[in-house]
Parts: sequence; structure tokens; C-alpha cells
Amino acid sequence: MSPIEVNAFSLEQLRRHRSTKWRDFPGDVLPLPVAEMDFPVAEPITNLLLEMIRESDLGYLGPIPELSLAFTDYSEKYMNWNVDAAQVHVVTDVGVGVVEVLRLLTSPGDRVLVSSPVYHNFSTWIQELKLKKVDVPFGDDGTNWTIDFSGLEDAYKAGVSVHLLCNPHNPLGRLYSKEELLIIAQLADEYGVTVISDEIHGPLTFAEKVFVPFLSLGEVAQRVGITVTAASKSWNIAGLKCAVVVSQGEKMDALLKKLPPATHYRASLLGAFASTVAYSAGIDWLEAIMRKLDSNRHFLSTLLAQRIPEIRYRIPENSYLAWLDLNGLNLGENPSHVFLEKGKVAILDGRGFGPTGRGFARLNFATSPDILTEAVDRMVVAIS
Ligand SMILES: Cc1ncc(COP(=O)(O)O)c(C=O)c1O
Repeated sequence: MSPIEVNAFSLEQLRRHRSTKWRDFPGDVLPLPVAEMDFPVAEPITNLLLEMIRESDLGYLGPIPELSLAFTDYSEKYMNWNVDAAQVHVVTDVGVGVVEVLRLLTSPGDRVLVSSPVYHNFSTWIQELKLKKVDVPFGDDGTNWTIDFSGLEDAYKAGVSVHLLCNPHNPLGRLYSKEELLIIAQLADEYGVTVISDEIHGPLTFAEKVFVPFLSLGEVAQRVGITVTAASKSWNIAGLKCAVVVSQGEKMDALLKKLPPATHYRASLLGAFASTVAYSAGIDWLEAIMRKLDSNRHFLSTLLAQRIPEIRYRIPENSYLAWLDLNGLNLGENPSHVFLEKGKVAILDGRGFGPTGRGFARLNFATSPDILTEAVDRMVVAIS
């Protein structure tokens, strides 16, 4: 059987979408900030949802062993990670999962470590629980983003309760290697830090690299780590609301047993069954999407090099987010605002990702080459 092909919707079709990406801006703006893809959802997911809706099967979520099993099968086959299905807990979304785990692990005023620039909601989750954010930013050695291990150790030593790890990293599109994760696990073990690994972007890893789930690293990682992840990002079903929190070992298993039972049924029935189908029958679709994203990440690089060479863009190893260094354009404090005002193209202001995001912006390239071209055309207009 030949591989399936999935093409992005046209702009006209997308403008009819009701999600935040298509509602946040006036109709003359091309929106590329929110991390949703412009591709149609996998057919097995659509079929399941249509069937459930047709049969008015829209009640509360009850037991769903199918999801844990589909997740464990997927993890074993595609991520080299053996998960115990009994330690997979269903939650509403990754945000809720992280907040509920933080609630179990911390009290107001405790410190949570992040490495900026990082997914902006890490800060909102930390604020929600009145925790203190400690930032150990990524460095840049000219070819890749680097981890400041001595900074991490100093911060752990000074007192950190939780390290909120973005693995793989949004917005840098950077993977953590096995060796890097092992150092983090060992340090966390030494200083009594719990690592919450947000792995929502994991399945979106390009072929040249390997995504390493934190808990796949053995005993030490399993002693200190908890993973929160979802099918929602990779299979483009964020609005369906379902994620999983996973442990792998006695200590963290005991902790997660304290999650309030309500966290399970606050997830959506549609989301939980759609996620099950994603992990079990959505692989061909995901492979087709990865071919598109692979082509787009290079296409964007070529476009920018030709049209706006002042923008620095490192091709990501994972996912569909381009982290653009706009400093060379000298557009002031908020370059993304200039693109919005003058070019009617929306990209996400880098400052929301932490102080190291100043002068940067994030662009979502999970769309058609036509829309990407239009976006860059508008950016050119904005700076002309
Ligand atoms: C790293 C990361 N974590 C979590 C989320 C949001 O996940 P959810 O909608 O399940 O809360 C995103 C969305 O872009 C993300 O990039």
C-alpha cells in the first residue's frame, strides 16, 4: 500500500475554523502563533468521533483501560519505552496534569526550575499555584542550544522542589539526549528534586534524531520523574481535552495515587477515545504529517534565507515551531508587533517565553507551503 498523503486546508477553509488560532485576530491577519496544525485530523479519529456523535454517545468519561493499553503499546513500539498500564492516569490536558502533580509536590513559595526560553504556560502554571520560578536558561554555542548543567546543579543545591522539563523543548525544537537526561536524573536524585517531564511534542520527532522519554532511562529517572503527555499535539486534537500522567516505580506510583479521582472524569469522553485511536490507528497519518513538516521546516529556511536573511532560524529537530531570532532586523522591543501591524501576520512574541526570548518570535509552520509563502511575503512587506 502506498503511503497516505495529508494536505493542509486552504486559507478559505481555515477561516471557517472556530478554534482560538482563527478567532484571536481580525480576518485580514494571517495567524501563525498558536500550536495547532492546519491539517485535517486522521481518518480513524474522524470516523470514531462521527460514530460517537451519531449515536449521541457523549456522556461522562468512565473506565478506559483501552487508552492505557494503546499508550503503552505505542510507547513500546515507537519510543522504546516500556510503560506499566496500571501507572497511566487520565487527566483533562497536559496543563491540568502538570498543575495537579505540582499541587501534590509543592506548597506556595516553593521553587520550580525551568529553562527559558520555554513554553509560556509553564509560567502561568507556576503562578497559578503561587510557586517561585527559577530560570536556568539555555545557552547557544553557535550550532545548538546548550544546557547549563552547573547552573542546574547550583539551583538544585539552593533549593528547588520541582524541575519542569520540556522534553522535547518548545520553542527550541531541541531534543534532550539520553546522556543529558541521565545527568538531570542523577542530579535530581542527589538533591531531592522531582522532575516533571512534559513530553507532549515527543511523537513529532524528525527521523534524524531520537526522542528519549525521561522514564525510559531506568531506575534513577523512575525514582525522581513523572511524565505528562498527550496525543493532542501530535494528532491535532487539542480541543478534545485528554492527556495522561505516567509514573514508573513505587515512589511516584504512590504519589500519583493521591491525584483526586475527579481528575479522571474531568477529561472528555471524546478526547480519551480519540487519543486511544490516535495511538493505535493513527501512525500512518502521523508519518504523513511528519513528511510535510520535514519539508516545511526546510522550505521555511530557504524562504527566509532568500527573502529576509537578517532572520536567524535554526532548523528544529522536533515539532512544527520555528524559533526566529529577529534581533538582526532592529525592530525594537517587540518585533512581532511590527509584523502584525505592518504586515498583518501574527507570530508569537518571544518575551512570553522568558527573558531569553527578547528579540525572538515563534512561528508555526504546520500549514501549507502556500500559507508559509504568504506569511513570509507579509513579513517582507512589514519591514520594507
Ligand atoms: C510543551 C507544551 N506543553 C503543553 C502544551 C499544552 O498542552 P495541553 O493543551 O494539553 O494543556 C503545549 C501546547 O502547545 C506545549 O507546547
